[in-house]
Amino acid sequence: MFEVDPVVAREAQRRRTFAIISHPDAGKTTLTEKLLLYGGCVEIAGAVRGRKSQRAATSDWMELEKQRGISVSSTVLSFDFEGYRINLLDTPGHHDFSEDTYRTLMAADCAVMVIDLAKGVEAQTEKLFRVCAMRHIPVLTFVNKVDRTGQEPLAMLANIEEKLGIHAVPFNWPLGTGPDFRGIVDRLTGDAHLFDRNSGEQRIAFDTKPFAELTAEDIDPIVREQAAEEWELVLSAGDDLDPALIMQGMMTPVFFGSAYTNFGIEHFLHGFLKLCPPPQPRKSDHGLIPVDRPEFSGFVFKLQANLDPRHRDLVAFLRVCSGKFEREMEVVHPRTGKKIKLPRAHRLFAQGRETMDEGYPGDIIGLVNPGEFRLGDTICGGRQVNFEPLPQFPPENFAILRCEDTLRRKQFARGLEQLINEGAIQCFTRPGGGQAEPILAAVGVLQFDVVKFRLQSEYNTATSLSWLPYKMVRWIDGPADNLKDLKLPYSTRRVVDHYGKEAVLFESKWDVEYTQRENPKVTFSAVSSSG
Ligand code: G4P
Repeated sequence: MFEVDPVVAREAQRRRTFAIISHPDAGKTTLTEKLLLYGGCVEIAGAVRGRKSQRAATSDWMELEKQRGISVSSTVLSFDFEGYRINLLDTPGHHDFSEDTYRTLMAADCAVMVIDLAKGVEAQTEKLFRVCAMRHIPVLTFVNKVDRTGQEPLAMLANIEEKLGIHAVPFNWPLGTGPDFRGIVDRLTGDAHLFDRNSGEQRIAFDTKPFAELTAEDIDPIVREQAAEEWELVLSAGDDLDPALIMQGMMTPVFFGSAYTNFGIEHFLHGFLKLCPPPQPRKSDHGLIPVDRPEFSGFVFKLQANLDPRHRDLVAFLRVCSGKFEREMEVVHPRTGKKIKLPRAHRLFAQGRETMDEGYPGDIIGLVNPGEFRLGDTICGGRQVNFEPLPQFPPENFAILRCEDTLRRKQFARGLEQLINEGAIQCFTRPGGGQAEPILAAVGVLQFDVVKFRLQSEYNTATSLSWLPYKMVRWIDGPADNLKDLKLPYSTRRVVDHYGKEAVLFESKWDVEYTQRENPKVTFSAVSSSG
């Protein structure tokens, strides 16, 4: 046993670390902006978008983000609200960047799922929800765009329950939808919050009145009547909100609102603080590591190079899991067994970054030029522990990458090595090494564009891609003789991964099954133990 550090325990208790998941266009960026606005972090909404364009202006690889109109990389935003430190992990919505998003979810204690009322649960939301469910991450739901004509709120609840298999229990109820939308009624107090239509640039005050006392001046009586009927139905037929079931990922509280017009944002923030859990203990090879363990520990969930092209630096994003992080502290790096002094650390804000002197469980720290850190690495003080490895997501697309200019092969190799370490792409080569061109592999096709773009803009190296017909990779293991005489169909290709592990590329599941039957002593694994 250890002695609890009361400062660490107190600081951890006031941290709330979460990620927003959604299908593109559901309103994630708008909601982020409004949370920062209501969190008092920015004066005027637009800072996040502003930051996006500012970043695009200073960092040219972000140009790709602009061209495609998508968010390529995850970012971390922190702000204080009513005594809490809120850490928001922003994640790319485009499905081709799902690996990055999945890994970011590993650093969150809770996810907020944004759904467009008109569109209901969409494909990418469903995929991300499955990752949360797999990792037992509690999910809060924000049904957005209630100011637009969409489906009936009751139908929305049914849609969530059917598609995701989770019990959806409303935390508030909309008073009308589309042009009739007048506000929300709070489940806990029974009060109606009435809003004025507003451009949403600035915070708005709202009238609060018991729902039962609403007059025809406040709301059209027909809209009121319908909302009252629905609300009664929800309260009488449905279950109560149960924090234990929410924690287990079996129930999701549902908030209705409109990020664009600020309807329900403040209400959501208060509900979020009640329901989002503080930092939780993490699984390690020494069992669960409690957050108030006095010794510092954390893990790297993201590596990002050249956020600021003037410095060409690399940032490792570390989630603090226990103890206190201090600037330039000495820690152990269990993968290499080395003792190291931590490099410069940063906290990221909506409008910039600042040096971070201390951090507590739940905080996300950006370590600049961290040296040999890899994705998933644990870093700790005192007794060595290793947190669970980050899950891997099998690639589905493969292509040969060629360096167009032979004089720039060195820069090409350096840039590629960097991108592989960041987890932006996987790389395979022919067994036996040599000068063969690398085969890149990723879950989504857009990741290849990012690699090409970054090699060009950051390493001044032009490359070209030739697509390969493979659709899956299997890492192989077994007795040396069997591996040497592996019987493979012509359509396959034998390769080694970046860490020297042997693998085979396949065009179809049928080929995998056939090869497995032909080589019964060899195991064919969809996940590698590399890294
Ligand atoms: P994303 O990050 O999930 O991809 O979505 P984003 O916030 O960029 O929102 C997508 C579009 O939906 C934006 O419109 C945004 O203004 C709009 N939107 C977000 N929340 C609401 C809402 O509550 N009500 C309504 N009516 N619209 C909403 P856009 O035309 O693509 O961009 P913009 O010109 O407004 O910036």
